[in-house]
Amino acid sequence: MAGIQFFFRGQKYLVAFGGLYLLLVALLAIPYIQSQALYLNNIRLPLFADFNNPEKYGLAPNRTVNFQITTPDTETIGAWLVFSNSYYSSLPSIPTDPASLIPEALSRVGEGGKRIPVVLFFHGNAATRAFTARIRHYQAFTSRLGAHVLAIDYRGFADSSGSPSEKGLTTDARAAFDWLVKEHRVHPEDVLVVGHSLGTGVAGQLAAQFDEEGIKCRGFVLLSPFSSITEVLETYNMFGFIPLMKPLYLLPGAVGLVKRAVVHRFDTLKAVPDITASVLIAHALDDWDISHTHSDVLFQAFIEPHLPPVEVPTNPIEVAQPEVWAKLTEQREARQLAFEKVVTKRNIDKFGTIEQFVEPQTSREVTLVKTLAGGHDYLGIQEGLVDIIGRLFDM
Ligand SMILES: *[C@@H]1O[C@H](CO)[C@@H](O)[C@H](O)[C@H]1NC(C)=O
Repeated sequence: MAGIQFFFRGQKYLVAFGGLYLLLVALLAIPYIQSQALYLNNIRLPLFADFNNPEKYGLAPNRTVNFQITTPDTETIGAWLVFSNSYYSSLPSIPTDPASLIPEALSRVGEGGKRIPVVLFFHGNAATRAFTARIRHYQAFTSRLGAHVLAIDYRGFADSSGSPSEKGLTTDARAAFDWLVKEHRVHPEDVLVVGHSLGTGVAGQLAAQFDEEGIKCRGFVLLSPFSSITEVLETYNMFGFIPLMKPLYLLPGAVGLVKRAVVHRFDTLKAVPDITASVLIAHALDDWDISHTHSDVLFQAFIEPHLPPVEVPTNPIEVAQPEVWAKLTEQREARQLAFEKVVTKRNIDKFGTIEQFVEPQTSREVTLVKTLAGGHDYLGIQEGLVDIIGRLFDM
């Protein structure tokens, strides 16, 4: 009897769980909730952050200027400009008014007559520019790359005004770039755009915009990127192991419905053909939030136009015919050969792999780095990866 009771109780839990799951999926179709779940901008970590006190989060006294950027649609965006190590340590003493140094810092010529480059940093969802993992990024870029770092909090995040949207975040990103280039006459070629996680979606949209306007920056670094939000939904595991969308496949048409309900797409994959600058894509193999396969998809998209096509017959039954099969095999081999011809791969013991594609016509480079460690949040602080960024983008 106990067995039967247990069985019924078990079934009840199953039904309750299923109901809860469907409710969750339905809730995600509501734009407001979708926006909250995607941006997580109300998780304002660290709690009660004091943006006027970057020292509290580990940065040197008065090395950082806290200020606001106003966007063309009149939102106010919180920003930090962190001076490069070399610039900061060249000052005779701790500056008493770091804001007044901005024009000089941004036009200073460094070693070898080169201007000090600026990393324009777009962080991922949740938390703020004062979040520990992000501070580690600024430290890596200002020390090992010798760059200044401009980090912004998008609208709706931290002390910025407004509420987030795909278009809004792209506007904020552009406003930060324009602050550098238009207000402070930083050369676009001295700006390296670095996005992390959701920030790679922002960087992708900005890259497409640059292409349209013929703006050439130093390049783009995509850390822990995703190909598009709909793809993330498809591959996302709740708590690291419950596949979010898998059960939905039991309901015909449900997956398509959910995908169509996605308002904020950040479709980097779609933006790839428009990105003409050099790109570094990096992903940790132990990233449990966004699978490293997203980076493979993006890398492949850059190479795709340079590979011969495989003509799969529209009627799949035809594949069974020996001559069709033989032709397919031949095409696939030709593709593999072409891939190996344009892509070089290198293993670095205890670090990971580097795959590099040099575009024949433009000689721009697209690089894919897979690191063995780093997880989702801390990818980009590894000295090995920072050094690769430095070499690729001449910093
Ligand atoms: C840092 O700058 C502020 C003004 O921006 C100034 O009041 C303060 O004294 C400076 N701190 C140091 C240690 O010089």
